[in-house]
Amino acid sequence: MLHLISLKDWSPELIGEVLDLADDVKKQPARYATAMAGKTLLMIFEKPSLRTRVSFETGVTQMGGHAIYYDMGTSPLGAGKENIADTARVISRYVDVVMARLFKHEVIVELARHATIPVINALTDHSHPTQIMADLQTIREKKGRLNGLKLAYLGDGCNNVTYSLLFGCTKMGVDIRVACPPGPDYSPASEVTRSAQALAKKAGSQVLITHDAIEAVRGADVVYTDSWMSYHVAHEKLEERVRVFTPYQVNATLMQQAAPDAIFMNCLPALRGFEQTAEVMDGSQSVVFDEAENRLHAHKAILLKLLEAAKK
Ligand code: CP
Ligand code: NVA
Repeated sequence: MLHLISLKDWSPELIGEVLDLADDVKKQPARYATAMAGKTLLMIFEKPSLRTRVSFETGVTQMGGHAIYYDMGTSPLGAGKENIADTARVISRYVDVVMARLFKHEVIVELARHATIPVINALTDHSHPTQIMADLQTIREKKGRLNGLKLAYLGDGCNNVTYSLLFGCTKMGVDIRVACPPGPDYSPASEVTRSAQALAKKAGSQVLITHDAIEAVRGADVVYTDSWMSYHVAHEKLEERVRVFTPYQVNATLMQQAAPDAIFMNCLPALRGFEQTAEVMDGSQSVVFDEAENRLHAHKAILLKLLEAAKK
């Protein structure tokens, strides 16, 4: 059974096929108007969401299927009355595909282990693969290619989006430089860096983890940042994190270090004046809303690919 749990498990060929399909779905949506007829997607959420929830649900509707929003808090699983394995077995008897946004990555791995339908990771504390699929689509659309590009990621290095970028970029031949504060709370876990370096070696791309924002951004084609206060981070951490991350804020001065035609990306939600200034977020180099739109097209392509694989 093909699942989308982490981009680390997907080959560059498979990622490329989904990106091509996402482009086609975007160009000719009518072609896919009945592609999910009679199919149901279950969407389990343990954390908030705007883009992921609305784009998946809309995508399924546009392809003639049905999506069920399921708040984890209202489930026997969330109430501690049922385990993940039984939940996986039961939902596999009803629906065709399930996506889940959860705190712990181990829980989605466990869900996939016991499900007999495709499982999509809609964000865990460890990874956010559906986001990075849309990001790769956006980068390729704006730059005409992926191979040989340089992406600079600024801010929280110990983060789901960072990890999925590390896997997705290296696999697709994009050099990635992560600039983050020192220390295990802010830098990528060493096993993630090691995996990304091994993937980069295979694809001929490069990985740099640095604490110097300018070193990361110099000459970059893509400048990317994410929230300093991810959903799982406690509000009490705000003051400390603003202090620690401020040297990595994407502002106009930092953008000047990037290639003149560099694009600015943020998976959103974003706070102007925090991880980027309003000037950058609303400026001419920002593609954040095209990036958000591509979640819709990329998610449709992911669903189609997983459903097709499940048939075989
Ligand atoms: N980027 C993203 O996943 O947004 P949501 O949290 O709104 O789904
Ligand atoms: N790193 C962020 C991504 C939000 C889409 C978080 O986990 O909240």
